[in-house]
Amino acid sequence: MAPGFFPIPPTFRDKVVRAFGTKSEAWLRELPQAYGSQSGKGSQSMDRPYLILQVAASADGRISIAPNRTMFEDMADPRLTTTMVGADLWREVRESINAAHPLQADILGSASLVKEGRTPKPPGSPAPLDRLAGDRGALYQDFLPEEVVGRAGHEGWLVIVDGRGRVRGGFKGTPDAPGWHALHLVSRAAPPEYLAFLRHTGIPYLVSGEKRVDLPAAMGKLRSKLGVENALSTAGGRLNGALLRAGLVDEIHIIVAPVVIGGFETPSLFDSPDLRPGEWPTRLTLLKAGARADGRVWLHYRVGT
Ligand SMILES: NC(=O)c1ccc[n+]([C@@H]2O[C@H](COP(=O)([O-])OP(=O)(O)OC[C@H]3O[C@@H](n4cnc5c(N)ncnc54)[C@H](OP(=O)(O)O)[C@@H]3O)[C@@H](O)[C@H]2O)c1
Repeated sequence: MAPGFFPIPPTFRDKVVRAFGTKSEAWLRELPQAYGSQSGKGSQSMDRPYLILQVAASADGRISIAPNRTMFEDMADPRLTTTMVGADLWREVRESINAAHPLQADILGSASLVKEGRTPKPPGSPAPLDRLAGDRGALYQDFLPEEVVGRAGHEGWLVIVDGRGRVRGGFKGTPDAPGWHALHLVSRAAPPEYLAFLRHTGIPYLVSGEKRVDLPAAMGKLRSKLGVENALSTAGGRLNGALLRAGLVDEIHIIVAPVVIGGFETPSLFDSPDLRPGEWPTRLTLLKAGARADGRVWLHYRVGT
């Protein structure tokens, strides 16, 4: 057991049996299905990547300092960096995930990179794309150029979920991680001009869904077309919420910082549609919990029981 971790407390199941007696065991047998348990399938037998979430949150579950901010703004804001995001623990968590499940994809959502609905565009925004003439249909085929997909030294994909085709920075990767290359997940709502831009820039993309990315289909393609067995989402609450609701998440690592941010619109860990009558909370199994001297707590859960 890693230093700083204390033994796993009794599970929910143990507690219920102790409180209500062994008759409750019959009820408990029904529980994993009622709560949408994912029964811990190994990545080998899956038709999608084994998906792990890593996120830093305040004690009230906020993941940003205010609504509609990009990660660049958040990372530059001392109100957040001095209280919540510590690169040391973030790196340690990632390394522990990578040691257990060697990562081949790191997933982010478009709203972490581009603001919603900003007009006029801020200075430095890319110029509007020229209208495209001719056949656009071919653009809505997956674009996986061999010179990128088959290149020597490939290690993983920096995956950007960008259903509407808004991320126009042309980012392909960073010099300090040359084995990692950008790849976009788009939907059929992405403008053809944007897809032409990705092709021209040499950024691979996978197409799924009509108005937004069909997350199960896109995850299936990451596995079947690119062989991604293990993926990490370092996204915000809406993408992580959608992944969780779609039953695509296997493990969750949360770094809880000893601060409260509050707010009605400030992004939180899982911003997803309210549960409908008859729907149940997603059950988690605590695998590890470790407190640090600075007050941060690292929680590691498996999704399901
Ligand atoms: N504390 C942390 O660890 C951490 C980590 C990451 C980000 N953040 C912060 O979180 C904030 C952004 O969070 P966010 O939740 O607004 O953005 P986000 O994680 O980027 O989520 C929005 C993305 O999810 C997609 N999406 C949402 N619902 C979907 C669905 N049902 N099906 C398919 N795709 C769906 C959106 O698609 P479209 O592209 O089609 O709109 C968009 O790409 C930023 O302030 C950032 O700094 C914090």
